[in-house]
Amino acid sequence: MNPEKVLDNVFILLGEQFWIHQISVSHEIENGLPAIKVDANQLEQVFVNILTNARQVLDEKAEEAARCGEAFEKRLVCSISRESRQEHEYVIFEFADNAFGVPDELKTRLFDPFFTTREPGEGTGLGLSIAHGIVTDALRGKIWVEDNPAGGASFKVALPVGEAPCASTS
Ligand SMILES: Nc1ncnc2c1ncn2[C@@H]1O[C@H](COP(=O)(O)OP(=O)(O)OP(=O)(O)O)[C@@H](O)[C@H]1O
Ligand SMILES: [Mg+2]
Repeated sequence: MNPEKVLDNVFILLGEQFWIHQISVSHEIENGLPAIKVDANQLEQVFVNILTNARQVLDEKAEEAARCGEAFEKRLVCSISRESRQEHEYVIFEFADNAFGVPDELKTRLFDPFFTTREPGEGTGLGLSIAHGIVTDALRGKIWVEDNPAGGASFKVALPVGEAPCASTS
């Protein structure tokens, strides 16, 4: 599967929603990316969950800025690159928003089932836990969140190219 194709498919599903919500989306795709052996539907589900969250936090940040009379441009950068780690090659997808970021103490809890900061009835807290399950169990990859220079969160998904390395306990 061509990594860029998976991203394109997701934006066929969600692109209009991002456009309606006036989020400026840019793509930074490294040249010559290798194919990844994945079930495209599963990976799309992961990206839909990450992108839906990004859309929600960008809307929240924009509402907060509007209440304070500040200008705010909602931005999302989607990148795909390749990286070698411990003799294994990975394709890395990154979704970087410029909303609030994630406090360090929540960076792993976010992926727990039912963890949500939304109002009761607004979110089940399952989006990222489902994404985590798909990435680590079905696709043998890794998913995590980092801060980014835009002040927001960067969700990253690393997927092995070719044969997946054996699952490690670390
Ligand atoms: N891009 C982001 N920036 C900041 N916080 C985020 C971001 N994405 C997710 N979160 C935080 O992670 C929590 C868990 O996300 P998750 O997708 O698992 O559940 P949810 O969005 O609250 O509910 P659901 O996805 O079931 O509608 C969110 O409630 C939010 O606090
Ligand atoms: Mg969610």
